[in-house]
Amino acid sequence: MKLRSLDSVPWEGRRALVRCDLNVAFLPDGSPSDLARIERLKPTVAELMGRGAKVVLASHLGRPGGAVAPDLSLTQVVEPLGETLGAEEIALLGDCVGDTIEAITQDLQPGGIALLENLRFHPGEEANDPEFAAALARLGDVYVNDAFSVAHREHASVVGVPRHLEAVAGRAFEAEVGMLGRVLDAGDGSVMAIVGGSKVSSKIVALRNLVAHVDAVAVGGAMANTFLAAQGLDLGESLVEPEMLDEARAIIEAASGAGCELMLPVDVVVAEDVGGDAEPQVVRVDEVPAGQRVFDIGPETCDVYGNRLTTVQTLLWSGPLGLYEVPPFDQGTAVVARTAAMLTRGGVLTSVAGGGDTAAALSRLSLGGGFSYVSVAGTAFLRWVEGRSLPGLLPLAA
Ligand code: 3PG
Repeated sequence: MKLRSLDSVPWEGRRALVRCDLNVAFLPDGSPSDLARIERLKPTVAELMGRGAKVVLASHLGRPGGAVAPDLSLTQVVEPLGETLGAEEIALLGDCVGDTIEAITQDLQPGGIALLENLRFHPGEEANDPEFAAALARLGDVYVNDAFSVAHREHASVVGVPRHLEAVAGRAFEAEVGMLGRVLDAGDGSVMAIVGGSKVSSKIVALRNLVAHVDAVAVGGAMANTFLAAQGLDLGESLVEPEMLDEARAIIEAASGAGCELMLPVDVVVAEDVGGDAEPQVVRVDEVPAGQRVFDIGPETCDVYGNRLTTVQTLLWSGPLGLYEVPPFDQGTAVVARTAAMLTRGGVLTSVAGGGDTAAALSRLSLGGGFSYVSVAGTAFLRWVEGRSLPGLLPLAA
């Protein structure tokens, strides 16, 4: 989809109301646990400042449910935001609508930045209340959406405001849509998806869409247990979703009907429990000992998945392949991600990863930099993989 961009707007002296996603998690010391979302905002803000716009940033933080919650105030991000954007001063406004706020946005100097308080302190944001959207729209002359990660939300700041203002996509939003579009539209029969995570139920729509569109889908994480159990294997005490067994069989059948190779682990790493005394061991998938649980894919599976990667041009990865938070169960994810990174560096693979856990796993393993693109969107990324339309995209269409 082609989007309108910052290029077409004469910015000098005009207010850019930028919907961004500063919804970050915090460490116990109060600093953000991951700066990726803030860093992704930099190209848009730097360009707007450079072109003389007055930059008004609007975001949510957490889910305060339409009421003021001091622990979810955006005050917490002002410092890391200023440091990351290299901005000397960011004016944090006490609210996100109202006459006083509007006057402050008008009084900003060209190149100045103001940050509105958490949009979700008002019930009108999530309810997409037209009056709230109109009040927000008074804070800008042009609307910029640079938050792909909220594109699945029919909220006032995503779909309501662009009814009142000229709307364009920010640079991060453009990059995200461009990369994602390249993957499923590759159309050359050489796309592989890696799908992991704990539950088939959370990725069922995505799996159905993927087997219809890509060449191969390699399954990992605890969701692979459900697929293996659907084929009659005994997985010991492993996490299996009994109510998903029929669905797993249907996906296996759909894949075969669509000519998509559905790949399942051939060996796994098992242990009695996480952090137990017993050493984890590698076993064939049909030899999981009673009382043991699967926590990762095994080395032979890593080889099989890695080798298949060498035969495709594009990789779409959503979900870790094992319990990546607890070594040594991070090895499946690490080994396959390293192969993907090596092929990407060699220029023979375009690799796109996304979803909250995937980005966290790659960052923990310091492997995110090896991918062509790592999406910082969670649910919006999954909705896109599911093939659903995202309401936040439509107002930006060229
Ligand atoms: C996210 O973290 O995925 C986005 O910020 C959206 O947050 P939400 O799920 O609370 O709407």
